[in-house]
Amino acid sequence: MSGKARVERGGGGPAGGGAASAPFRAGSPCLQAPAETSMGVSWAVSGLAKGLVEYADNPAFLNPRVARGVGLGPVPIDDAALQVRIVGLKPATRYWYRTITTPFAEYPNAYLARPGEPVASAVHSFTTLGAAARGRFCMICDTHASWPAYRLVCRALKALEPTVVVWNGDAAGPSTQTKREAVGAFLDPPVEDADWAADAPALFTCGNHDVRGSWPSRLGEVMLPRDPSERRGDQWDLKWNFAVRLGDMALVGLDTGEDKPDAHPMWFGLAAFEPYRRKQAEWLAEQLRRSDIAEAKAKVAFCHIPLFAAPDHPDHPHDGTRIDPDDYAYWSRECAELWGPILADAGVRLVVCGHKHRFRYDPPTADRPWAQVVGGGPDLGTLRGRPDDTLFPTVVEGWTEGDALRLRVHDVHRGRVVLDETLPPA
Ligand SMILES: [Fe+2]
Ligand SMILES: [Fe+2]
Repeated sequence: MSGKARVERGGGGPAGGGAASAPFRAGSPCLQAPAETSMGVSWAVSGLAKGLVEYADNPAFLNPRVARGVGLGPVPIDDAALQVRIVGLKPATRYWYRTITTPFAEYPNAYLARPGEPVASAVHSFTTLGAAARGRFCMICDTHASWPAYRLVCRALKALEPTVVVWNGDAAGPSTQTKREAVGAFLDPPVEDADWAADAPALFTCGNHDVRGSWPSRLGEVMLPRDPSERRGDQWDLKWNFAVRLGDMALVGLDTGEDKPDAHPMWFGLAAFEPYRRKQAEWLAEQLRRSDIAEAKAKVAFCHIPLFAAPDHPDHPHDGTRIDPDDYAYWSRECAELWGPILADAGVRLVVCGHKHRFRYDPPTADRPWAQVVGGGPDLGTLRGRPDDTLFPTVVEGWTEGDALRLRVHDVHRGRVVLDETLPPA
């Protein structure tokens, strides 16, 4: 462990590149884009700073190694968030790590800088993914920078101690318009227990609100994309799509994109998701044929917008295909048609979604062998001042027991389990 760094205790220290009088602060590390041999770390900074990660395969930090950035080349320097990807790790192995952040008190030109005192985070740990890893996921969604709800979600994650958290979209809200605001929503929420992300890595899928507004070109600077070495070159643009083994489960993440057609005038020409969804269909079929994914006892897919609404369900007419100022996708017909048959053919047992802000469970049928569970949103039992008992934030929990896939949905508002289901093999 470096002997030079000051250990962070709730901020303090020299000013960074922000307001000259404000103390520099480095946020708690957020583990992201976990894989069998790599792990991403992102964290918020209050001013201009550089950062690195020290890590070791033992809690005493004997023979530590240092990761200095993402990929090769420059060390990250930024005034809102820093990102590091640790590579060359062993699968299903526990590591201990801490971030070291060095603020720049001054950096007036490329040849003149005055680095401040390095700040060390507390030591945290993570376990890399793999078939031998303990397999329990939690899914969160639609937190929308709504802190009363997010506080309850964070508390539940701390109690449930999942191996990974699938952050299934809509962390941002309508007022998220800059990278710094996105950093506040994703990496540094003003909520106790938000530091769950220092010990449980997040697998990210975009929600429609995460790709909307003036900032999403910088989303990858906040939520680290997957390691490009996982894909063919022509699939690099599928930035967050994941297909990983977690114990007996295979977890696959898809991006449903916006909730209206690309040509909708509300997007000001900024949406181009239709080719993206088609490319994901090609990627999905290939990933589900991968031997390690195909051999998993239980395959689970995650995407933000639901892929199904029963013909007699009130959501059914709202399939995201019409250009209509008052309509949007309650479920995505385009994604369902592109991906649904691939999921069924590969024996995927469960699709986990969000977007509707209202918990729902659709059991499998003869025509649709995968079950669908839809998580809740940020509302705490009321909507526009009216009581509504069906509105609550959720944490969706999944794991395997023998050949069965267990599914449990927690209403974190009232502290109750609203679904406890066992899905047998297909
Ligand atoms: Fe939402
Ligand atoms: Fe949404």
